[in-house]
Amino acid sequence: MNPIDKLNDLERLAELGGGDDRRRKQHEQGKLTARERLERLFDPGTFEEVDKLVTHRCRDFGMDRQLIPGDGVVTGHGRVNGRVVYAFAQDFTVFGGSLSETNAAKIVKLMDMAMRNGAPIIGLNDSGGARIQEGVLSLGGYADIFLRNTLASGVVPQISAIMGPCAGGAVYSPAITDFVVMVKHTSYMFVTGPDVIKTVTHEDVTKEALGGAMTHNEKSGVAHFAVEDDGECTDVIRDLLSFLPDNNLDDPPRVESGDVADRDDPTLDRLIPSSPNQPYDMLDLLHSVVDHGVFLEVHQHYARNLVVGFARLAGRSVGIVANQPAHLAGTLDINASVKGARFVRFCDAFNIPLVTFEDVPGFLPGTVQEYGGIIRHGAKLLYAFAEATVPKVTVITRKAYGGAYCVMASKHIRTDFNFAWPSAEIAVMGPEGAVNILYRRELEQAADPAALRAEKVAEFREKFANPYVSAERGFIDEVILPRTTRKRLIQALATLESKRDKNPPKKHGNIPL
Ligand code: HXC
Repeated sequence: MNPIDKLNDLERLAELGGGDDRRRKQHEQGKLTARERLERLFDPGTFEEVDKLVTHRCRDFGMDRQLIPGDGVVTGHGRVNGRVVYAFAQDFTVFGGSLSETNAAKIVKLMDMAMRNGAPIIGLNDSGGARIQEGVLSLGGYADIFLRNTLASGVVPQISAIMGPCAGGAVYSPAITDFVVMVKHTSYMFVTGPDVIKTVTHEDVTKEALGGAMTHNEKSGVAHFAVEDDGECTDVIRDLLSFLPDNNLDDPPRVESGDVADRDDPTLDRLIPSSPNQPYDMLDLLHSVVDHGVFLEVHQHYARNLVVGFARLAGRSVGIVANQPAHLAGTLDINASVKGARFVRFCDAFNIPLVTFEDVPGFLPGTVQEYGGIIRHGAKLLYAFAEATVPKVTVITRKAYGGAYCVMASKHIRTDFNFAWPSAEIAVMGPEGAVNILYRRELEQAADPAALRAEKVAEFREKFANPYVSAERGFIDEVILPRTTRKRLIQALATLESKRDKNPPKKHGNIPL
């Protein structure tokens, strides 16, 4: 065969993957093929494939008669919004997208290239797991990938999409990456599947209930985004990338904002309800303050008492961490602490300034939380904020009580600008709780306990439930009018653009895991 025809033939075979029938089956399940997914992920015409002609080396179980160029994973690089990105997509039509020795070597090679060149890595997962015919060679391949995931952590952003099965030890690659996107109804992740569970624990559970997109978005927190289909999945990844730098030595991309930097929003002056226990939606504040109201919420369905996500202020990426009074009164619990800590550490690793909006009545009380280790988990959030050296700005809108005051990017843990609205209440605890403790005996002996309690609460509120004691100490830099919040944040971040802060030299810290 002439050399050109030979190349064309091999490329055609690679693109055919597992053949028309298996491709059709993939489409019938509502899934795109690996190549179709990559086409959607990258800017049109920019994807360049690497290792298209690699085949497996297994000679057992009749595998020598089934050599498909590419071997079940498509790897390569291209442009996303004009910037270089590396990606691999497992091809379920070839041996169920299972991971062979050579298939793993392709992924490892790609990850090494991405690391050397300082560009993000995207993994589109759709695989039956370790290639059964290859035994330990396949397991070794997984471990090789896990090592790369670990070394790349904090160096280049890593995003995993789960677009089909992802089971057994295979889950640990996505788990190490920074963000996991799951497609509803077609994807699942679990360490052991329903059959094994049935045998071992006699529990009956479906794949969807065990490890579907909403399970991992709402219950386990393993996944950060839930999307309707493959198209929305690649859209979310593109959107997410637009907020992130290429690597840890770069600054995040800046865009022409087109939104007025010093616009006031008078509705914010009325956002805080007159009753201190009445909830409001923190998202209303975020949407008002950030450029064009665009906020990409991360972990939207998990630990909703804390909101985290990306936005822009004057065209500059910021990571937002905000208590949500509309859910569990905005208390910090185990899940919210872990969610917040991981997000803060991601932003710090990738030079994304942190903006914190605070309205927190404290840590969630109760035996469930204490037995679950709220002490250790709450400490993660404290540690993450304290070690972060990126620009940090905090706005206290209402409550900043107790330990949660210290944790939520307080001045004491190196926050650069701490603002408070006039409605801020900064105290060891709420007035009611404080009065019950300080005046217990008097209240028990009082002729009219309710009147005495009301009087003492008012007294306490007057003394402590305001931002001025903190402002007198300099723990709050300025009490600002709510309507001016956007302007003040943008000014603060502009002032901090040249910030260079450092932690003491060490191999690494010991965050309470
Ligand atoms: C080799 C595999 C395979 C595998 C699927 N195939 N999984 N080939 N190794 N792990 C092949 C099938 O033989 C089939 O080939 C094709 O892929 C499609 O699979 P189907 O079963 O027809 O598809 P479907 O009905 O959609 O079921 C998908 C599935 C099932 C649920 C993923 O294939 C399955 O249970 N596979 C095994 C999963 C598993 O236990 N893997 C090991 C996990 S442990 P043909 O030729 O018929 O198209 C693991 C350890 C990792 O991965 C450790 C890391 C440390």
